Amino acid sequence: EKDGFDYFMLKEIVEQPKAVADTLLGRVSVDGQLTLDEMRLTPAELRSVEKIVIIACGTSYHAGLIAKYAIEHWCRIPCEVEVASEFRYRDPILDQQTLVIAISQSGESMDTLMAVRYAREQRARVLAICNVNGSTIPRESDGVLYTHAGPEVGVAATKTFLTQLAACYLIGLYLAQVRGMKFGDEINAVIAQLATMPEQIERVLDSVEPVRALARSLADEKTVLFLGRHVGFPVAMEGALKLKELAYMHAEAFAAGELKHGSIALIEDGLPVVVVVPSPKGRSVLHDKIVSNIQEVRARGARTIVIAEEGDESVRPYSDSLIEIPAVPTLLQPIVATIPMQVFACELALAKGNDVDQPRNLAKSVTVE
Ligand code: M6R
Repeated sequence: EKDGFDYFMLKEIVEQPKAVADTLLGRVSVDGQLTLDEMRLTPAELRSVEKIVIIACGTSYHAGLIAKYAIEHWCRIPCEVEVASEFRYRDPILDQQTLVIAISQSGESMDTLMAVRYAREQRARVLAICNVNGSTIPRESDGVLYTHAGPEVGVAATKTFLTQLAACYLIGLYLAQVRGMKFGDEINAVIAQLATMPEQIERVLDSVEPVRALARSLADEKTVLFLGRHVGFPVAMEGALKLKELAYMHAEAFAAGELKHGSIALIEDGLPVVVVVPSPKGRSVLHDKIVSNIQEVRARGARTIVIAEEGDESVRPYSDSLIEIPAVPTLLQPIVATIPMQVFACELALAKGNDVDQPRNLAKSVTVE
């Protein structure tokens, strides 16, 4: 069932356009209307939400971090994100006006399940984002939005992450519509862009070959650092997690603005640093800041691997390797920016002879706390 691929992970990376298309199917109509019926939360309930708390583990947590940027921007609802294993031990403040979003591919992660139970005891409403039909977390939640990624066999989350992002965007956009947010035009434009994501993902997959060669050339490195800002920061975290779990390498992500507060001391000659660059349009302040960050690490000897929008010539002089991704709205960029990271980690792990479907010490679903 690997369809000619040596590993499920390779197959699952290639399946991403379809996984995202299937997750959007029937939920986004041509006129920009969103239909999320199975959420089982009424528009009135959604209008009464005063705070959102997202709980998840691992890669699903990274999807939650990205969702926060989108939800707060589109809906102006305060949104916290926390790893599920920390959540209930700190006496969090929840009530009936709190919407808890639990993100779990398997629907069985014990940490997330315990957090869901705790939230419901505190009378918060719980909405699950889940890939496995009828699994425990959606069964114990008030509502669910299923991702339609199909079964994911590789331990590393790939296609399910992209579909979790699509689900988070759908929820954010739907909340904005239901609550009648003032930037209706922006919301409609983003919905139209979201519908084109499967094609954009396809384009990234068609262009990732050079990433493989790059990854193989780094197989003997000990450490890789990842930098990002805004939604690029959780993308950097996801890139680092993939490298740790698959290639067993030390990898760490930083918010690029934090470099000067300590971590820049780590930079030494030849150290690979992967940087996710935000779109040069619209958010030019962020873009210019990250270009400075790239210059700073390069001046100290880093080997820069830059993921940037196609046509963004401003980063080329400072990029030892430049990976181009399609131009999409900033908040949606994680969908395209994550893919080169997945390919990078997978290829590097394969170059080291690791089994990317079954990395050591890990299980696909973690059913202990
Ligand atoms: O099934 P879940 O989404 O609840 O799983 C959460 C994490 O265990 C999972 O995302 C893990 O981090 C992945 N192996 C990462 O690739």
